[in-house]
Amino acid sequence: MLLKIKENNQIAQNVWEITLAGQFPYESVQPGQFIMVRIGRGSEHVLRRPISIAAVTEERLTIVLRVVGEGTKWLSKQSVGEQLDVLGPLGRGFPLPPSNAKVLVVGGGIGSPPLYLLSSKLQALTPDLDLVLGFRTKSECFWTDRFSQLGNLVITTDDGSAGRAGNVLDAVEGMLQSGHKWDYVYACGPQPMLRALQQYFSETAVQGYVSLEERMACGVGACYGCVCRTKDDAFSKRICADGPVFDWNEVIL
Ligand SMILES: Cc1cc2nc3c(=O)[nH]c(=O)nc-3n(C[C@H](O)[C@H](O)[C@H](O)COP(=O)(O)OP(=O)(O)OC[C@H]3O[C@@H](n4cnc5c(N)ncnc54)[C@H](O)[C@@H]3O)c2cc1C
Ligand code: FES
Repeated sequence: MLLKIKENNQIAQNVWEITLAGQFPYESVQPGQFIMVRIGRGSEHVLRRPISIAAVTEERLTIVLRVVGEGTKWLSKQSVGEQLDVLGPLGRGFPLPPSNAKVLVVGGGIGSPPLYLLSSKLQALTPDLDLVLGFRTKSECFWTDRFSQLGNLVITTDDGSAGRAGNVLDAVEGMLQSGHKWDYVYACGPQPMLRALQQYFSETAVQGYVSLEERMACGVGACYGCVCRTKDDAFSKRICADGPVFDWNEVIL
């Protein structure tokens, strides 16, 4: 489907926020789902690029992307009024917890955007939502005002230039020591961060869901180009169609 760019703004170092409008099943979007975006106007880029849905209204959706290569660079340069060819919403999103569960949301860098849509849903379900977002440095922080309206937000930066110095796990440990308790953890970010969180809570009853990333070709489960390793040692789960969100006990991180 073709969606028109309504806004395209740089919001942090190498990070752009793009808002799209047009015919799209906005009402069916689950937090954690993504779109596959066609890159370029000709046939030079064969593969679409997966980008998470960060926010959605009845008539618009917003994506946040970090420029890492040709495709994301091209997206960052598109003007308001241009159209993007997208497929979606794709994948399985985050299952929501029961009402009043104690929930921690952890994002690492460009893993944070899908957690915004998730947190806006969680806000209605849980009175005490804890959010920890980690960035490398202050100039890479984005949407901190928006996230802070949804729960108790702790920001970390590796160099201490904003928020608490250190990584997200340091902050999580500090919060546990000061009496925070959680039933559910939801996370998206670099795999080492997800692994560290999973290991940290492995001896507890805390239930965790992680959103995984992999290079994708078809994005709809047809090519098996994005399989991940599962605990039963089968490479049978496709991140695009069986995920990107998985129970952290199901996958090897
Ligand atoms: C389900 C899902 C949701 C995603 N959501 C977002 C999002 O909301 N915002 C965002 O900025 N990015 C997101 N990504 C990552 C995004 O798809 C890639 O950054 C993008 O495809 C890179 O395209 P490119 O043409 O710019 O870079 P390329 O030229 O293809 O690659 C440039 C460099 O980035 C690395 N790279 C490319 N894709 C990935 C990847 N998926 N994982 C790790 N490294 C990669 C390459 O190895 C290479 O080093 C998501 C990925 C998945 C699978
Ligand atoms: S990208 Fe083709 S199966 Fe996932």
